[in-house]
Amino acid sequence: MTVSQDTYRLTSPDGSEMELPVRSGTVGPDVIDIARLYRDHGVFTYDPGFVATGSCESDITFIDGEKGVLMYRGYPVEQLAEHSSFIEVAYLLLNSELPTEAELSEFDNTIRMHTMLNEGMLNFFKGFRYDAHPMAMLSAVVGSMSAYYHDEIDATNRGHRNIFSHRILAKLPTIAAAAYKLNIGQPFIYPRNDLNYCENLLHMLFAVPAEPYEIDPIAAEALDLLFILHADHEQNCSTSTVRMAGSSGANPYSAIAAGVSALWGPAHGGANEAVLDMLEEIGDVSQIGKYVDKAKDKNDPFRLMGFGHRVYKNFDPRATIIREMCHKVMKQLDRKDTPVFDLALELEQVALKDDYFIEKNLYPNVDFYSGIIYRALGIPTSMFTVMFALGRSVGWAAHWREMISDPKGKIARPRQLYTGPAARDYTPVEKR
Ligand code: ACO
Repeated sequence: MTVSQDTYRLTSPDGSEMELPVRSGTVGPDVIDIARLYRDHGVFTYDPGFVATGSCESDITFIDGEKGVLMYRGYPVEQLAEHSSFIEVAYLLLNSELPTEAELSEFDNTIRMHTMLNEGMLNFFKGFRYDAHPMAMLSAVVGSMSAYYHDEIDATNRGHRNIFSHRILAKLPTIAAAAYKLNIGQPFIYPRNDLNYCENLLHMLFAVPAEPYEIDPIAAEALDLLFILHADHEQNCSTSTVRMAGSSGANPYSAIAAGVSALWGPAHGGANEAVLDMLEEIGDVSQIGKYVDKAKDKNDPFRLMGFGHRVYKNFDPRATIIREMCHKVMKQLDRKDTPVFDLALELEQVALKDDYFIEKNLYPNVDFYSGIIYRALGIPTSMFTVMFALGRSVGWAAHWREMISDPKGKIARPRQLYTGPAARDYTPVEKR
């Protein structure tokens, strides 16, 4: 393959040459445009897991995995984590620019005004088993929003696109808290619109009708930070799922429900839950060596959960920020369960010095620490991935809006390398 300034030239097996256009983004590597490859040259590309394939143009989020850079609409996540709030970041992701004071206040108010669920939706929770996983309930109830808001899902209507995003952002915490209350057998707590986004979530999770509930500002601050860090991550598995499901013109709430389901897997958002399960299984610092050896053993399926990332190959910038918050939460909440945190810190140190992890560029990712914070806030392990979904919901909504408004948009439909039998004749059953 030879490179010229704005085309890639490929030589095919028969010696003929094909030229492919190269496209440049604002920052980041160039991409080879292969959209006409099959039409002009009769071949497809092969890239399982899409490790080298761009599926769309996007101006929402940029990641440089080598340098550990993450930017939302051009703003480094470190700056947003330090100075912004989740609601402001949500506005930025959905509307491309940071809001003025008046815009922020209006947006915040709009989200507060959409927190209640249609009362009929609460009946769904009565149908679930008391021990249903909250991610299963989240996915099902978000999908059911299609049945409630079908009169405002015209993708060509800007107002409909807006109200869809507002409902997703505002109602997911209410659904998540209802799922948790079902699990613990407590009455569902209605949202309070005088509280901010994370305070309201804590209230719905932990208040009971029998006594007043005092919101811990450190807990609200920690959740807000986690949601900022989880708000978007360009074409990750769940976001690509939302785009793919939505590309058929499917109801956007169904597309978000598909994203929730994709997030649940342990290789993706389910990792925060898996990290805590793993730390509990390891149990004690004396066992770390044994588990690190298991993670390195090719014949053992065990992996160090919370380590490694498809894109970040030096460090995950979110992990650096969250690690600091972990220390703050542990100190300020004066948690008694610091052994889990101490174990995590020791495991991190052992793995970071180990040749296997160094050679394969395996570093702690955001989920290595997020579960430890959730645990310290009293959030049960089964709710960790739900927390991730709440933060990511705004990214999903922003990507759905971008995808559906793209005039070049097409239904997502990858091709394949077929390895099954070639054509053969049907054999009657008595002759097989
Ligand atoms: N523990 C031990 N070995 C690992 C780990 C790990 N956590 N992660 C990757 N490796 C090894 C693989 O076995 C592979 O080794 P090989 O080259 O000898 O075959 C090599 O490192 C590359 O790993 P891949 O799985 O090919 O890398 P990929 O980019 O496909 O996977 C992933 C990334 C899924 C995140 C992976 O590192 C992993 O499973 N990590 C644990 C789960 C996790 O923490 N997921 C959260 C991701 S962050 C997020 O979604 C918010």
